[in-house]
Amino acid sequence: MRSHLLNDATAESYRRSVTEGVERVADKLAATRRPFTGVTPAELAPVIDAVDLDRPLGDSSAALDELESVYLRDAVYFHHPRYLGHLNCPVVIPAVLGEAVLSAVNSSLDTWDQSAGGTLIERKIVDWTCGRIGLGPAADGVFTSGGTQSNLQALLLAREEAKTTDLSKLRIFSSECSHFSVQKSATLLGLGQDAVVSIPVDRNKRMQSVVLAAELEACRAEGLVPMAIVATAGTTDFGSIDPLPEIAALADEYGAWMHVDAAYGCGLLASPTRRHLLDGIERADSVTVDFHKSFFQPVSSSAVLVRDGATLRHATYHADYLNPRRTIAEQIPNQVDKSLQTTRRFDALKLWMTLRVMGADGVGQLFDEVCDLAAEGFALLAADPHYDVVVEPQISTLVYRYIPEKVTSPEDIDRANLHARKALFASGEAVVAGTKVDGRQYLKFTLLNPETTAADIAAVLDLIAGYAEQYLGETLVHA
Ligand SMILES: Cc1ncc(COP(=O)(O)O)c(C=O)c1O
Repeated sequence: MRSHLLNDATAESYRRSVTEGVERVADKLAATRRPFTGVTPAELAPVIDAVDLDRPLGDSSAALDELESVYLRDAVYFHHPRYLGHLNCPVVIPAVLGEAVLSAVNSSLDTWDQSAGGTLIERKIVDWTCGRIGLGPAADGVFTSGGTQSNLQALLLAREEAKTTDLSKLRIFSSECSHFSVQKSATLLGLGQDAVVSIPVDRNKRMQSVVLAAELEACRAEGLVPMAIVATAGTTDFGSIDPLPEIAALADEYGAWMHVDAAYGCGLLASPTRRHLLDGIERADSVTVDFHKSFFQPVSSSAVLVRDGATLRHATYHADYLNPRRTIAEQIPNQVDKSLQTTRRFDALKLWMTLRVMGADGVGQLFDEVCDLAAEGFALLAADPHYDVVVEPQISTLVYRYIPEKVTSPEDIDRANLHARKALFASGEAVVAGTKVDGRQYLKFTLLNPETTAADIAAVLDLIAGYAEQYLGETLVHA
């Protein structure tokens, strides 16, 4: 069994094994004609159930053969131009190379004595990101597992910095379109979901700062404490960006922590043409960025950044076995002092490799391309009476629904759109997402693949129209 341990004696076997795996994946990616096979859980579950984990195959070629049927054949492929579903991007090759390196070396970024240069590379990527945001000289941050954890950590710091320790008095303000991790965080932080005040959005799905001001005033009048305002820079559904300068001014006025959830919109930090859309983000106390959404990085790659690095102390605990207090005096850089995690992947290496190979402009141009594509898609939808499109995209999502040829009930339109989404998924020809707007069923394209064209969008819309009409036809026949 020692032959499977990666070390000096097995370097050649490692090279062979990983090369074979890379070749299989490369062949798979090259031959993938659809983003999905349409397999159902009922079809796939028996295939996976049939694998006896107590009977190993013994060599990686055999395991790769098996992997074809248990995973690779039916995976959902984000690199395919007709994957238009959730906030998943195709990944850039330098980042995948970084992923291969980091898992083989297997540094753990909790302490210097488990990572050495990895710690300094992460710190430099954090500083680079803070610089792009404009957070100032005292800024700092840390990589996390994703936007959910970044938001949680930001709100933890906000809670600790709040002007009261009476948790029942604390309130968080975020728009009705903010991510559900804000509510989850409130619960985890002991505040309860009622602590989150939902602020309505305008017709462009941006937080209404006038209502925010009124709610902050009401909060103060009731003797409650505005702990944090969460502005979203790129809402999950609409990609809308809340009015950051106005929110920053209100955060100042009411002494609230300003957190910007730029999990999605952070790609604009690298955009050569659209960086101005994030103007005001530099006034935040904390920012969430998900490089695995708009920097074309493999999952996971996320960070939480703060204006005042000293606030990260709220996540600091010392243990004699890991990061004893003396390491502070000795100026040993231990990232665990800033993190909610202990053992932690060296995800920063992926972005490092990306920036060293492509540069920030290279990444930003890719993000610009998908924003341009979204504008084209919007023009297509807006010009077609068969579609109702909700809002002109600020970045790269389109939320719309098919309006059938024959006028029918709102419930039928809902059902037809839901059916079209499901039928499309089952066909595997394209993957789109769905959401509700004002209680009605809508469909969503999240455009993150620069290889997707306006022709792809038009073709997928035709498929949706076909499935929706087919459903309504069948429903009417059976009615
Ligand atoms: C605006 C926003 N914030 C946070 C998150 C959560 O990020 P993650 O899935 O990386 O935890 C998402 C995910 O879609 C998001 O869209």
